[in-house]
Amino acid sequence: MMTSFFVGKASEIPEGEKKIVVANGRSIGVYNIEGQFFAIRNTCPHQGAALCTGITTAFINSSGPGNFVHEREGEIVRCPWHQWEFDIKTGHMIVDPKKRTKSYDVTVERFDVSVEESEIYVHL
Ligand code: FES
Repeated sequence: MMTSFFVGKASEIPEGEKKIVVANGRSIGVYNIEGQFFAIRNTCPHQGAALCTGITTAFINSSGPGNFVHEREGEIVRCPWHQWEFDIKTGHMIVDPKKRTKSYDVTVERFDVSVEESEIYVHL
């Protein structure tokens, strides 16, 4: 059965910010990305670091040496332990396609979020 957990008022998490909450014993990071809210488990699938305490960053794309383009600013979280990066919107790991030697399916658990009358809820 799905339960809804009250995260806080929408105004508590401005754009580009996050809030870490504990819901039913699970630590969850709730992010505001351009006015939309996303929630992921605050546990890195690599070795269990508190993923959401890592920096929020951009996807850095490069077309060649010295050419860097920051894309999707604020949509990527970087684990503080070994710098694995995850897409906050999907939970999927970010892998540089040029460096990939095999395909990974490493994801961090994500949760549905709704905003009702300016209050944010995570659905578990
Ligand atoms: S524990 Fe997150 S990258 Fe290693």
